[in-house]
Amino acid sequence: MNTTVTDKQKKTQTDFLPLQGTDYVEFYVGNAKQAAHFYKTAFGFQSLAYAGPETGMKDKVSYVIRQNKLTFVLTTPLRAGNPIADHIYKHGDGVKVIALKVEGATSAFEETTKRGGKSYMEPTTLKDDNGEVVISGIHTYGDTVHLFIERKNYNGVFMPGFREWKTNYNPTSTGLLYVDHCVGNVGWNQMNPWVKFYEEVMGFRNILSFDDKDISTEYSALMSKVMSNGNGFVKFPINEPAEGKKKSQVEEYLDFYNGEGVQHVAIATADIVATVRELQKRGIEFLNIPSSYYETVLERVGKIDEDLQPLQELGILIDRDDEGYLLQIFSKPLEDRPTLFFEIIQRKGAKSFGKGNFKALFEALEREQDARGNL
Ligand code: FE2
Repeated sequence: MNTTVTDKQKKTQTDFLPLQGTDYVEFYVGNAKQAAHFYKTAFGFQSLAYAGPETGMKDKVSYVIRQNKLTFVLTTPLRAGNPIADHIYKHGDGVKVIALKVEGATSAFEETTKRGGKSYMEPTTLKDDNGEVVISGIHTYGDTVHLFIERKNYNGVFMPGFREWKTNYNPTSTGLLYVDHCVGNVGWNQMNPWVKFYEEVMGFRNILSFDDKDISTEYSALMSKVMSNGNGFVKFPINEPAEGKKKSQVEEYLDFYNGEGVQHVAIATADIVATVRELQKRGIEFLNIPSSYYETVLERVGKIDEDLQPLQELGILIDRDDEGYLLQIFSKPLEDRPTLFFEIIQRKGAKSFGKGNFKALFEALEREQDARGNL
């Protein structure tokens, strides 16, 4: 089984855009100082780097925070009337950049733009005493962009323009490790065009598809295709709304985000029970799963290493595929608009995305949507 997949992967793998993983995720936020405090306190990030007027950046401030291989950049504008301020006015706080680590940012730009990628930033070399970082970028869905980051010749703390940010306030880690996948919500009939974009422009392939029959509840529905790069380090599921009795959760997102954008960032942990317990203690709220879910879950997924009791207590979901199982949980939205949320995921062999949980999960989402009057 594994051999077959590997051979198939080799055959279909295209290497014009070799990716080494997610370099960072940048959020445009209304108040980066407070956002940095929130992500440090609630999620256990550490201060890493800072850029602002003191470092020569006159129009914006960015805080860089890190936990293991997970790096977030929180950016806010200092004045009105610029693309960052306009982005926040239109979308609220949200993900602007999914930055991907590459060996060569110039070649990444050339290979993607020649295949139809729309330029966001031509290859640009940033230098300081610690070396150089080359950055380029292309547009993806909505106002979201992919930056290609080449940092092999850089030894500094983050990148030129930033200084080290040291603080006495350093909350302990919650065990978050790295970005497992980032999900985009796109408009009606836009899933396949964006699947094509990831295939043709970035050399990704479609590894899983879900149609509205797989994942509709009584009321609302969506369709989803999962795109992966060749080595599987970068995975982007793409959702579009589907017709249901009531408004799809994707439609609610599109209404409040004012367009297409990142729906959730899934973050890996090696001990989901410890991570979620800590996150809940620090005030992070997750979707509530009815106790009936746990009455039948083991019949569906079979034997698991964990005790069921703490999973039920915390609301952690379980699913299995051919290769193993996974444990996952979904936060409530991280801002007042019902837009971006996080997933916490622990994979125990499974490479899939929790299809067996969609019904329970979407019913939980719909209860929240209904409480907001948007169902
Ligand atoms: Fe996910």
